[in-house]
Amino acid sequence: MRTMHKTLLCLMGLWLAWVSVLPPGGLAQPVADPREAAFVDSVLSLMTLEEKLGQLAQYRGRWSDTGPKVPEGGEAEIRAGRVGSFLGVYGAAYTREMQRLAVEESRLGIPLLFAHDVIHGFRTIFPVPLAEAATWDVTAVEEAARIAAVEATAHGLHWTFAPMVDVARDPRWGRIVEGSGEDPYLGAQMAAARVRGFQGADLRDPATMLACAKHFAAYGAAEGGRDYNIADLSERTLREIYLPPFQAAVEAGVETIMAAFNEVNGVPAHASTFLLDDVLRREWGFGGLVVSDYTGVLELIPHGVAADRAEAGRLALTAGVDVDMVSGIYVDDLPAEVRAGRLDEAVVDEAVRRVLRAKYRLGLFEDPYRYSDPAREQALTLTPAHRQAARAMAQKSLVLLKNEGGVLPLDRTVGTLAVIGPLADAPREMLGGWAAAGRAEDAVTILQGIREAVAPGTRILYAKGATIEGDDRSGFDEAVRVAREADAVVLVLGEHHDMSAEAHNRTSLDLPGVQRELAQAVHATGKPVVAVLIGGRPLSVTWLDAHVPAILMAWFPGVEAGHAVADVLFGDVSPSGKLPVTFPRTVGQVPIYYNHKNTGRPPDPNNKYTSKYIDVPWTPLYPFGHGLSYTTFAYANVRVDRPVIRAGETVTVSVDVTNTGDRTGDEVVQLYLRDEVASVTRPVKQLRGFERITLAPGQTKTVTFTLGPQDMTFYDQAMQPVIEPGFFTVYAGGSSENVIQTRFEVQ
Ligand code: BGC
Repeated sequence: MRTMHKTLLCLMGLWLAWVSVLPPGGLAQPVADPREAAFVDSVLSLMTLEEKLGQLAQYRGRWSDTGPKVPEGGEAEIRAGRVGSFLGVYGAAYTREMQRLAVEESRLGIPLLFAHDVIHGFRTIFPVPLAEAATWDVTAVEEAARIAAVEATAHGLHWTFAPMVDVARDPRWGRIVEGSGEDPYLGAQMAAARVRGFQGADLRDPATMLACAKHFAAYGAAEGGRDYNIADLSERTLREIYLPPFQAAVEAGVETIMAAFNEVNGVPAHASTFLLDDVLRREWGFGGLVVSDYTGVLELIPHGVAADRAEAGRLALTAGVDVDMVSGIYVDDLPAEVRAGRLDEAVVDEAVRRVLRAKYRLGLFEDPYRYSDPAREQALTLTPAHRQAARAMAQKSLVLLKNEGGVLPLDRTVGTLAVIGPLADAPREMLGGWAAAGRAEDAVTILQGIREAVAPGTRILYAKGATIEGDDRSGFDEAVRVAREADAVVLVLGEHHDMSAEAHNRTSLDLPGVQRELAQAVHATGKPVVAVLIGGRPLSVTWLDAHVPAILMAWFPGVEAGHAVADVLFGDVSPSGKLPVTFPRTVGQVPIYYNHKNTGRPPDPNNKYTSKYIDVPWTPLYPFGHGLSYTTFAYANVRVDRPVIRAGETVTVSVDVTNTGDRTGDEVVQLYLRDEVASVTRPVKQLRGFERITLAPGQTKTVTFTLGPQDMTFYDQAMQPVIEPGFFTVYAGGSSENVIQTRFEVQ
């Protein structure tokens, strides 16, 4: 019987895989290819209730001396058909062996899925996602995800829990580092690019993997910037700010979505039929798989919406969470619920179909071992080409916040250069959080990058000066001594990688520890100081801004950190990154974001009774979209092709951008829109287009954007999408604040 089923499965798999052709890319279809549907239903018809619920169980791997393995008892669960996927288990040879257990030693032989958080590279670690967003380079971001998929799939992985597409307006929240910042439009572009990169054009290509847009939804709206906290927000803000990147991921064909830990307006996302069914499946037509977050199903109990495990499982599965990550509730507690008639088996079946479809789409019924190939693993890990791509991405992600008196670029024959600071020679910190299989020993530190870049004869002096956290000032004297000996100082300050990402929230956005004092001591030597900042969030470096002539935001730049930073410091590359998030002057300004409302009393320095503070200006330290270059750009002639359009028509905006400096540089041209008068208040600006261009000295390019109906649409008081007649202001420029403008009218 056992053998008969397996032979049957295998034959069906082969036949169907040969004859079926899936549409490349595009929306993960709710109604699959009929052959896929027939295959999936035929497998389902062979399954016991326990086997079905087993497909919905995902367990976490454990770390052993020889790498990640299935948890204690995992092999028995595989043989018993009580698990459908693992997270954090990879390695070509090892996944092959586990797959063999599933295929040859379980009753039905259904292959396993291996998943992992491949967030910004697998072994070749790219800049953290927030830094990648600072490139505003959609093609490069897609390519980075592609490379991550090539490496990860060569290690047996089928599924990444990325992209993280949560909009974040609160830099206290540690997970701001994992997303694309504060803007829904930029976030949507990045979300779609990463989905395309991970999933490629055809999922049956074994170098592609299932992507997962997470965390659905409004996780970034955590109250107080405290991870896992509630999100209490209007449906308007939910739809206009937090949902667009998810919708873009769905439109790009993302195969999976992860539910968020938080509640939204009183309903935990894992139990939200509004989010998972009404919006995701019905409005957007998402046909893929929904996975819980880590123990997210179990957490319905402490949320206070489920009394026990069984109720938590029923709620989550019924709302639309198909796969239960780690809790073990579906497989352990739901068989009895179905048998007692409290849960309809049809609900289970639908979730199982989604898991089987994912396995089918990856071609695993055709060849369960296609991802577990030691030769590919050997050939495709940390290749020179992958490192080169990581370096190019890091170069573009660096944001020059300030450069007074042209201190940068540095002369590589500078004489003596002092490199000071706790992050100058910190390989692990360069990788940032969620570094997958990244290794500290792969990372080029900033000190090393500078050493390699300077001319022979240039002396490099190094002093750590302080630790990242803590109040030890004993290294200050040494730092001051080397600064005095030098002609210029590169001061590398900031956060360590574990001050960002999950559960790493801060109440301060200042440099941690005594780093500001270190900067003050070094600055007092009178030597020219360039500050390089490492970190996963906006830092309120007001003292540095007031005193240090040059500041470069380097984020966590990845394995090629030192090379990329040196490339920019010494002028081989002109900086071109632009902030994907506002830098506040102080944490007390949070939330502060560019696409705010005007209010009835917009800030006016001459009028006390307007919307501002008495102790700090209302403006940010550095605005969204800001980033300097070694050259300069001038914007002129922003114009529309038609001053008057009808609702539903498009308008073309053009602007002339000239390189007015004396070296070639990249500029990110940004387009913003404001609906001047509407039936509900509209943001003062909304990003509606951007393009990265390269200009030679003296060269002018005309950049053209098309604004379509979706760019002018908003939700009216009845929450219906509308375009209302009236004037729209169009802004074009090199940041959200440095813009020129024109108007058009919708009639
Ligand atoms: C995180 C997810 C992640 C999952 C698996 C959770 O704690 O919130 O983003 O994908 O763990 O590692």
